[in-house]
Amino acid sequence: MKVTPISESRINEIDFENLVFGTQFTDHMMVCTYRNGSWEEAEIKPYGPMSFSPALHTLHYGQAMFEGLKAYYMSNGSVGVFRPDMNAKRMNHSARRMYMPEFPEDVFVEGIKKLVEMDKAWVPNKEGHALYLRPFMFGSSEFVAARPSEEYTFCVIMSPVGPYYAGDVKVKVEETYTRSASGGVGSTKCAGNYGGAFFATDQARKEGYTQVIWTDHKNHELIEESGTMNVGFVIDDTFITPPLSDRILAGITRDSILSLLREGNIVANVEERPIKVEEVVAAAKEGRLKEAFGMGTAAVVSQISTIGFRGTDFSIDTPDDGYAMKIKKALSDIRMGTIADKNNWMVTL
Ligand code: COI
Repeated sequence: MKVTPISESRINEIDFENLVFGTQFTDHMMVCTYRNGSWEEAEIKPYGPMSFSPALHTLHYGQAMFEGLKAYYMSNGSVGVFRPDMNAKRMNHSARRMYMPEFPEDVFVEGIKKLVEMDKAWVPNKEGHALYLRPFMFGSSEFVAARPSEEYTFCVIMSPVGPYYAGDVKVKVEETYTRSASGGVGSTKCAGNYGGAFFATDQARKEGYTQVIWTDHKNHELIEESGTMNVGFVIDDTFITPPLSDRILAGITRDSILSLLREGNIVANVEERPIKVEEVVAAAKEGRLKEAFGMGTAAVVSQISTIGFRGTDFSIDTPDDGYAMKIKKALSDIRMGTIADKNNWMVTL
């Protein structure tokens, strides 16, 4: 891997006490180009603008996708990246569906380790904070014929971040718009899945909600995701989350939480199964909906305090010592290295 270091760090320009998610980027980035049917040598170089023509393929046809993962300061002073191999695999899942070239998983993981090592000083050493890594790939040919791009650019940029949501998350069950459909690209992290969600999310915001709960495209009966996160409910003493399908993103936080819940004694039962809006609403009415929360890399575990359904708001408890917070703590303990990392999720530098 070619390495071109910066001459002077910008780190002193950053106010680490007031980080705004994903707005400030570290000194270096990793870039790799796919040309003539293969990936060229990856390069780590100073973070900065990239130059492309207005005919840049991705701007016209949207062959674009991204990943998200975090690096943490651990209690023993080392820096660890959480499950980067999973992101490498998921990116290649997205690549296959988006008709883009797969990126070598070993270069992905090794490149990330090297990049984080170079910008280690940017990893915030504070509870609830992390270095957010954003790998992404886009079609970088410069033509507007409607056929797949021939060149692709892979890149990783990094941003020091604090907590994603400030305060309660209120969600509205979305019954008009849909995030994904069977046979579509909902299980990928293609850029359009996020761009296509902004309008419905803004409508919900205007009604006083933070996010939407996405329901299935056919009948809007089944719960699928919440905003940009997977979603889970605790009804009585059972944790329920929708099963993976080609409409749902295989969240790495979701997977990690399922493993921890199956290993531990936080909740009595764990179910991955279709869950209907009417089941959640009935449980809320009967006082059996104990907690609800989103699961994602950016927000980690995000407690839902209200579910709005057809004009009625159902309040949900958000206890400091409940299921969501116990799960969040279990994850955080692994990330900080204060409990055993039985599954070897942390990749230290
Ligand atoms: C995540 O939950 O990690 C995401 O995908 C969030 C990202 C869109 C900022």
